Amino acid sequence: SPVAAVIPAAGRGVRLGPGIPKALRTLGGTPMLVHAVRAMAASRAVSLVIVVAPPDGTAEVKSILDAHALPGGSPGGGWGRTDVLVVPGGETRQESVRLGLDALPPGYEIVLVHDAARPLVPVDIVDAVVEAVRDGAAAVVPALPLADTVKQVEPAPVAGRPEPVVATPDRSRLRAVQTPQGFDRATLIRAHETITDDVTDDASMVERLGERVVTVPGHEEAFKVTRPLDLILAEAVLARRRL
Ligand code: C5P
Repeated sequence: SPVAAVIPAAGRGVRLGPGIPKALRTLGGTPMLVHAVRAMAASRAVSLVIVVAPPDGTAEVKSILDAHALPGGSPGGGWGRTDVLVVPGGETRQESVRLGLDALPPGYEIVLVHDAARPLVPVDIVDAVVEAVRDGAAAVVPALPLADTVKQVEPAPVAGRPEPVVATPDRSRLRAVQTPQGFDRATLIRAHETITDDVTDDASMVERLGERVVTVPGHEEAFKVTRPLDLILAEAVLARRRL
């Protein structure tokens, strides 16, 4: 069955600093979103990418993608074997993903959800996620062990004041999860129809349904570009790849 990837790219990227939407910031001169689309299209399995654009920026995103597509172009607009669609997003990441899923044509039984903010994910990770879904998992997340110890705190009554620590989960059993996360289509759609709480990833919605979610090894280069320091790291990774 062919695989589709939904790329939520409608965030403002406030933590990165003021300016244009995060997905349109450049790395090595190329918008992050273009790197993310290429990363998905690099997988032989992925034949459709649905980009979820800022609601007021759909036309701009379309023209940026057109400008970076291969010249000549396939019917899909020059991304090799992969078609690229652009749809408007929403207020939250999960609303943006749901709007992307609304545009999913029939026939795609495996769906990836990949953050535009993870532009440098290696294709091996994309393929490993797809393979695990093909092997029967309803939901698959790339995951890495943590370098830092994690504390659970009580929110401080006043922002910026010390916060009481309430617990220290066993680090050896914690994982930082990345994207693309891969799903059986029906499971992902049911999760988005059923779970309305504020969550930060799609796999956690599937967990709430009581379905089994599994991990595959993630990759350091699939890190999320969130803060200014991440841009410096991303530029360095790109420069090393170009050597
Ligand atoms: O905010 P966070 O870093 O978790 O965002 C992860 C991804 O979700 C980013 O690629 C961002 O563009 C996307 N997003 C979205 N719609 C929103 C907020 C975030 O597509 N309303």
